[in-house]
Amino acid sequence: MPNGIFSLEGKVALVTGANSGIGRELALALRDAGAKVAIGARRAERNAEVLEQLGPEASAFELDVSDEQSVEKAIAGVAGRYKRLDILINNAGAVNKKSVMELDRSAWDHVMAVNVTGAFLCTKHAARLMKEQGGGKIVNISSVYGLTAPSKGLQVAYTASKHAVIGLTKVNAVELAEYGIQVNAIAPGFFLTEMTADIGGSPMERALIRRTPSGRLGETKDLVGTCIYLVSEASNHVTGMCIAVDGGYVVSDGMERG
Ligand SMILES: NC(=O)c1ccc[n+]([C@@H]2O[C@H](COP(=O)([O-])OP(=O)(O)OC[C@H]3O[C@@H](n4cnc5c(N)ncnc54)[C@H](OP(=O)(O)O)[C@@H]3O)[C@@H](O)[C@H]2O)c1
Repeated sequence: MPNGIFSLEGKVALVTGANSGIGRELALALRDAGAKVAIGARRAERNAEVLEQLGPEASAFELDVSDEQSVEKAIAGVAGRYKRLDILINNAGAVNKKSVMELDRSAWDHVMAVNVTGAFLCTKHAARLMKEQGGGKIVNISSVYGLTAPSKGLQVAYTASKHAVIGLTKVNAVELAEYGIQVNAIAPGFFLTEMTADIGGSPMERALIRRTPSGRLGETKDLVGTCIYLVSEASNHVTGMCIAVDGGYVVSDGMERG
């Protein structure tokens, strides 16, 4: 178990979208670092499966991050059980791969509602508690598509939403700094999860591997160190930043030279 400045002993964390993929990995890692962990997502059965992995000190809430009543209820549930909330990971996410000329308005609205409005609503209600307590840590899961755009302009809503998540990170970091709340973002590269299942074994996967300086996709455990750093006292004077965990994807020009 990590200790010293990376210890999360006595801390309470809420991870949204943690019944799957990246969120589940981060929830388990926060528990292993000493935190009591609550998860929130829509599918109750999947929540229950992850709750069993997390153990008896954990909690699971049925949560739709795009619905303010649902957010308020889940955060009140965390406060009710643990009497505090120190860490919020805004991880819940939705994707749509269509381009600007193909995407329906309703599909655009859904991606924005989950990825941007969801992070806003969870931050709004969590930050109120954190302010009362005198501090907290918020980590927003953006994407390399919050820093750059996919080739051929696909994923218009996702790319715009993940850029917005970085904007939200900056503005909230500035507003909440005086309350001892740090807000940072992580921009993951490419990880095989349910969201990206179509990439596995495809020409796209091979292209991504060629395009990534480290020569591989990420594994969800690659995100753990950055997350623990950003939610622990190790990062107490770091706020408004976005750290890419992408094997060098965004800093490379992506050219193939003979
Ligand atoms: N995989 C990658 O390569 C990659 C790269 C960059 C960034 N990311 C980001 O990482 C985050 C996690 O993605 P993942 O790859 O782990 O995908 P995933 O396995 O599909 O997990 C997505 C999670 O979000 C939850 N969710 C979706 N809509 C929700 C809503 N309205 N309210 C609450 N929870 C909701 C899902 O649970 P329910 O359906 O039960 O609600 C699920 O737990 C996302 O923000 C994604 O954009 C992923």
